[in-house]
Amino acid sequence: MTTKPRVIQIGPLSGSPNANERLQAEYDVFELWKHPDGVKALAQHGKGVRVAVTTANAGCTAEIMDALPDLQAICSWGVGYETIDVEAARKRGVLVSNTPDVLTDCVADLAWGLMIASARRIAQGDRFVREGGWGQVHGSFPLGVRVSGKKLGILGMGRIGLAIAERGKGFDMQVRYHNRRRRDDCPYDYAATLTELAGWSDFLVVATVGGPSTRHLVSREALEALGPKGIIVNISRGPVIDEAAMVQALADGKLGGAGLDVFEHEPKVPDALKSMDNVVLLPHVGSATFETRQAMLDMVFENLSDFFATGKVRTPVA
Ligand code: 8YV
Repeated sequence: MTTKPRVIQIGPLSGSPNANERLQAEYDVFELWKHPDGVKALAQHGKGVRVAVTTANAGCTAEIMDALPDLQAICSWGVGYETIDVEAARKRGVLVSNTPDVLTDCVADLAWGLMIASARRIAQGDRFVREGGWGQVHGSFPLGVRVSGKKLGILGMGRIGLAIAERGKGFDMQVRYHNRRRRDDCPYDYAATLTELAGWSDFLVVATVGGPSTRHLVSREALEALGPKGIIVNISRGPVIDEAAMVQALADGKLGGAGLDVFEHEPKVPDALKSMDNVVLLPHVGSATFETRQAMLDMVFENLSDFFATGKVRTPVA
């Protein structure tokens, strides 16, 4: 009988069907999140463990790495890894993998869903019909704004930003972007500053990485540059937008609308947003389709089996 390799699971893999069961079928799993004393439990269970499995939500701190003296790899579910102390991992020679590419299309699709839903008041219209507000007279429901042919600004021209931009062709939209640096391999015009991009855009889609480098990048100034007719969409990470400034700008009519899949203090959503009809709110579901969540899970397992077979992970983070 072969013994299953032991892994530490930092957070639940609840976003992919049957993920926890599959992990347990193939590995000898220590479920860290079930231990109220957290890191302390690792003093007893951490020795000899070479791999930690985690998620974009649960991440992995340097403290956990310190409690795992034999750690060699962290395999994470999700593309974002700002919750993993990658620098601490690098210093310790610990490999880190994520699940890129497989979720790009679904996240880009959702960005478009939010753009159209906000502009055309889809969620508001749905509420209106359910609540019996629909009379037979035209004009009982407010007009939306046109999407096709408008100007689309993208903050963060990575894989997901590019996929959002490409979809703009089908809507005859002009696309510009702002990024840490101009990309030579991309056909869209570059805006040197975010404020410049926001001032030009009808729709501004946030598709950057999260973490300290982008915290509150979308400031009051940028939101006001987008203006009373502009719509902001965020499918990346909540803290990239100064949420309090966004709520204020919406309340003051200085920003036209918002389509939000992510929030600064998830799962908390400001009450003020819940009472606004010009915003669409989703519970962080960018990658949440059967197909994509399956592919993300498969990629975690590929990284795990590659590591145990070769000492390398298949999709290391940059
Ligand atoms: C997950 C994500 O939906 O991959 C990421 O970085 O944000 C998403 O795929 C999210 O982590 C679930 O909360």
